[in-house]
Amino acid sequence: MDEEKVIVIDFGGQYNQLVARRVRECNVYCEIYSYKTEIEQIKKMNPKGIILTGGPNSCFEADSPTCGRELFELGIPVLGLCYGAQLMMHVLGGVVEHAPVREYGKTEVMITADSPIFEQVSKRTTCWMSHFDYISKPAPGFEITAHTADCPVAAAEQKEKNLYLIQFHPEVLHTAEGTKMLYNFVRKICGCKGTWRMDSFVEDSIQKIREKVGAGKVLCALSGGVDSSVAAVMLSEAIGTQLTCVFVDHGLLRKNEGDEVEAVFGSEGPYELNFIRINAQERFYQKLAGVTEPEEKRKIIGEEFIRVFEEEAKKIGAVDFLVQGTIYPDVVESGLGGESAVIKSHHNVGGLPDCVDFKEIVEPLRNLFKDEVRKAGLELGIPEYLVLRQPFPGPGLGIRIIGEVTAEKVRIVQDADAIYREEIANAGLNRNPDQYFAALTNMRSVGVMGDERTYDYAVALRAVNTVDFMTAEATEIPFAVLQKVMSRIINEVDGVNRVFYDLTSKPPGTVEFE
Ligand code: XMP
Repeated sequence: MDEEKVIVIDFGGQYNQLVARRVRECNVYCEIYSYKTEIEQIKKMNPKGIILTGGPNSCFEADSPTCGRELFELGIPVLGLCYGAQLMMHVLGGVVEHAPVREYGKTEVMITADSPIFEQVSKRTTCWMSHFDYISKPAPGFEITAHTADCPVAAAEQKEKNLYLIQFHPEVLHTAEGTKMLYNFVRKICGCKGTWRMDSFVEDSIQKIREKVGAGKVLCALSGGVDSSVAAVMLSEAIGTQLTCVFVDHGLLRKNEGDEVEAVFGSEGPYELNFIRINAQERFYQKLAGVTEPEEKRKIIGEEFIRVFEEEAKKIGAVDFLVQGTIYPDVVESGLGGESAVIKSHHNVGGLPDCVDFKEIVEPLRNLFKDEVRKAGLELGIPEYLVLRQPFPGPGLGIRIIGEVTAEKVRIVQDADAIYREEIANAGLNRNPDQYFAALTNMRSVGVMGDERTYDYAVALRAVNTVDFMTAEATEIPFAVLQKVMSRIINEVDGVNRVFYDLTSKPPGTVEFE
């Protein structure tokens, strides 16, 4: 596998994992390293190619992330993207300055030279631009291969040295032919054979887990969601009975979910796991009483989880490792995936308390997107109905109840959500949105029911379509289905007199409400 490795050097841009993911889609193994990685370490890895990512800085400013000239003299093909493109020019003697016009969004790019990177790409094509600075003059020896109306150097190269740069973002789907460009780089220019597959990832991860864990005892945080289920089965393949799975029912699960999870992973289910269910509902409700601030709620739920695990670990004795099903979007949105801003501290990541009573945390899915986790799950032989089910966040209904969480509000949102899911399934739409759920707004309003005035809560229905949960669009649920759901919720769920449908996309919204 290693002979085919391409490395992505991270300069803090938003799309860095997307770059890695596109490379994996070309069946080439890929890892991301910080720009601070020593050149000697890079040489030792002997990658087939190097990609420099975008980033928020100006490369000509003194304390901006940078790299040495030597990186371009290793004889390894290098592709610079956006900031990476500007940095390559800056380091090699070109000129980068603040652009007179900021380019942002879909832009037409004109390809003006025969370039291996643009093989099979249309001469005029749409790309995604996002930059303040621009390359006003390429470094000596570089040929300009593409431009846009506002950007004289949209792409350039020095073919003999295999150095390529692209100002726009080929990794983003808005760049219509971007995948072809990355394919051309990794498969043709770097000469990777494209032998990597998801099953190699699974095998390799199992191998790495075995090496890391040795004879140690491992505790797995199993929520029954897709991510932690895939992580648990992967661990159980790797280390069998050294693994204990702990499932905490925090009282913030969907209706009947606790029993469903137990039915699958407990002693009656198909897996040979040490499975422990802990009913900790009261404990969580007490900690959450009176708390309304979303980040505080997330932190409390995350911390309480860890405390419950620690207690369980003590009972088992000498637990060395804790497994978590953290996946890449959790990492990036918690601000740990480079220099991107914190959006939410996702449970399992930013929500961890400072002192955790385990030797180490194992996160085998940390570099994967949701759809890749599902592929890994199928590789592991986990049944489709489990692998393809919609995601459910670690803090559960705690972040679908705006404001204070109480047992009564949990009951309302559980019942409303169960009706919504039932009606979506009845309408044959359950494979249509990628995620859908009911949430409880903290708003109460006046209504009338059976000639009586009501003053009750409003439920919000959400349904989104997305590829990787980094961006999402509201799903067009047929109006008749929404009406049916509305009428059932109002009739069947005490305490609700109004139902909203949330039309917001991500961005500017997020999928969850808190
Ligand atoms: P947001 O709300 O960030 O959600 O747009 C994106 C996806 O992540 C899920 N999500 C979480 N998953 N722990 C998780 O395991 C969390 O704290 C968390 N917050 C959001 C959300 O359900 C959606 O699929």
